[in-house]
Amino acid sequence: MRKETRAYPQGVLWPVLALGLLVMGSQAPSPDAHRDLGYVLSPVSDDGAVARIGRQRSIDRSADLLKQYGNRVDPSHLGRFLKAQALMATPGHNLGLSISDAEYWRRSEPFLRFPALLGSQKFLKALWRVGGWKDAVRLIELSNAERTETQKWKVLAFRSQFIRSVDRTTFDRLLVFVPNQEQPDGTFMDQWIQFALDTSVRLDPSATRSVSMVSVSPGRAYMMDFGRFATADGSIVIRPTALAEESPSKNCFDCHKSAVLPVHPEAVYASSEPGIDQQLNAKIRDYGLWHPDGMDTEAYGPCLGPSDKSRSIRQVKEWAGEFELEEAAARRVADSMRCSQCHQDFAPLNGLVVVPSDRDAQSFRDGRALAQAYVENGWMPPGNKLSNTERRALWRCLQREYFDARTMKGDFVDWLEH
Ligand code: HEC
Ligand code: HEC
Repeated sequence: MRKETRAYPQGVLWPVLALGLLVMGSQAPSPDAHRDLGYVLSPVSDDGAVARIGRQRSIDRSADLLKQYGNRVDPSHLGRFLKAQALMATPGHNLGLSISDAEYWRRSEPFLRFPALLGSQKFLKALWRVGGWKDAVRLIELSNAERTETQKWKVLAFRSQFIRSVDRTTFDRLLVFVPNQEQPDGTFMDQWIQFALDTSVRLDPSATRSVSMVSVSPGRAYMMDFGRFATADGSIVIRPTALAEESPSKNCFDCHKSAVLPVHPEAVYASSEPGIDQQLNAKIRDYGLWHPDGMDTEAYGPCLGPSDKSRSIRQVKEWAGEFELEEAAARRVADSMRCSQCHQDFAPLNGLVVVPSDRDAQSFRDGRALAQAYVENGWMPPGNKLSNTERRALWRCLQREYFDARTMKGDFVDWLEH
């Protein structure tokens, strides 16, 4: 035995050992797509109808994997996905960008300035008063009298079907659309400004303080959440919230696949004209794709419902399961699965918009993923004539084709593994 351990002459042994140690020491575990995906995307809950991934857990575990790999990942889809997720676990990167939130604000602030009226004390204080929002709307209407038809601001006070305000106090909103504003660099952008609104007299309106803005023109957009704060002298100031250490504002792109999301009010309290929500939504497609500075938007996955794929009726029936689709219904559902036909050009549906997570249960009123609500409510695909059952089956089929957290199968997983 002894002899064997001395197989290397003394002089050679040390360099060989040293080399071995060096190799072992520098060898971080290497990515294994299947194992890593199971770690990051396995469900945290499963109520039979839907298995949800853990939102924060997927961020933390992506960061954990990257650390194990010594922050070296290849430029594969999986590597880019892990990197994009892990960013949100990095202090100062609440918005999920490779540039810091402060740097994003520095670059975007010139394009996110409130039009004078909306930042004025008169307007802000009206919104602060119980029931004062109606006075705020009147101030806008008065100012509109001096604008040409195409420059007129549009107003919509409504109740959201989806999410609470960033300060978590209310579903009510005052959306102000300010078209064609000249920017400091001489270009023109539309501004979409949404105030959290307190229409009830029971709550203290000074507690409702969120306001968000998207400035957008074709191919370009900036966005930020703000808070309205009362100062000691009684005036109200507006400050960006993403810069706060405990930022309530996270990655906008998680939900805003198009820079502006459509509005589908549950109730309209006041509007500058009937059907204003539809008129506003009609602008969204023309803005086109947006790529926030410092964001690898493609790292969020392929678009749900690819249009270049053929699906057999048998496959659709199997996915639809207990919805028990007849042949003709299954064909209608299969024909409706081609979301990417439109969305690829302005809002690829990927990431959390389509993958059910525990955050849907916290953020959305009925706990459904955003795209699920659009399909099941019949808004998408546009102009469809599907029955209620077919709509629910359509979502089920899209989901099964894209990502099934139970089996770790689907287009999303295939994409990540290649
Ligand atoms: C959890 C999903 C979600 C996230 C994350 C999110 N939003 Fe939104 N946002 C919505 C929805 C849904 C609407 C549509 C109006 C409504 O129903 O409230 C909306 C509307 C808006 C509007 C009004 C104009 C429009 O697009 O309709 C602004 C401005 C806005 N969001 C800003 C932001 C900013 C800035 C961020 C990131 C700091 C952000 N949002 C992150 C879901 C989200
Ligand atoms: C014929 C074109 C077209 C098809 C096909 C289509 N959409 Fe849309 N979708 C739009 C347009 C335009 C908007 C934005 C304006 C609006 O909502 O009216 C939109 C908005 C959305 C939104 C809101 C969020 C966002 O990113 O803008 C979701 C979610 C959505 N569609 C899901 C789907 C799903 C799921 C499918 C497939 C079942 C689908 N759409 C098929 C055109 C389309």
